[in-house]
Amino acid sequence: MEFPFDINQIFSERISILDQTLVASRKSAGRPDLQANTATVIDELGRASAKAQQLLAPITSASKMQSQKHQLYLMKDGERNGGRGVVVGFLKVGYKKLFLLDRQGVHIEAEPLCVLDFYIAENLQRHGYGLELFEFMLQHKNLEPVMMAYDRPSPKFLSFLAKHYCLMQSVPQVNNFVVFEGFFLNRAAAQ
Ligand code: ACO
Repeated sequence: MEFPFDINQIFSERISILDQTLVASRKSAGRPDLQANTATVIDELGRASAKAQQLLAPITSASKMQSQKHQLYLMKDGERNGGRGVVVGFLKVGYKKLFLLDRQGVHIEAEPLCVLDFYIAENLQRHGYGLELFEFMLQHKNLEPVMMAYDRPSPKFLSFLAKHYCLMQSVPQVNNFVVFEGFFLNRAAAQ
């Protein structure tokens, strides 16, 4: 995804971690122009993700990021576009208090880290970027994918989880979240 400004000037790392402040790097702190460009990138990514998932409205935007305690991992390829860089995609996660049903149908209250939005630019999908981004987040959060909940996962994302993490057996829920066999088992062991 290309932008009419220098992506490398805003995002110094291959993967940047953004929170409510939308400060992408030390350089952009106190630089309203760079922060405005950061917001443009997030809005554009959110729109593209919504379109790819056929959602009526984006679930990710700069203003939503500012009002929620989510974390957004943003990946760039700094060498493309004549050295100005391109944005490859993003992964948004956050903790949610959920009422879940275990295998026996017993209600469990939990506050797992949830994958809320995930998008890799159309022309770069199926090249391993999604896996690199997801693995980065897992390391940063020190988590196994089975311990997470997934908000309305798309067919492509379900296929991704099955392929890379053998997550196939989900436990039926009454909300939009998907958790997999092992979620409740591992929770019990961790308590
Ligand atoms: N059709 C089916 N499966 C796909 C597709 C596709 N078009 N694209 C990726 N996958 C899955 C497959 O399992 C694929 O393995 P395969 O090529 O051997 O079949 C695997 O992902 C490839 O892994 P990566 O290359 O690491 O994944 P990628 O970089 O494509 O990122 C992602 C995966 C984020 C799901 C990407 O395909 C995408 O942006 N899709 C459109 C938006 C979307 O559906 N996002 C998930 C929203 S749900 C949520 O966030 C909770």
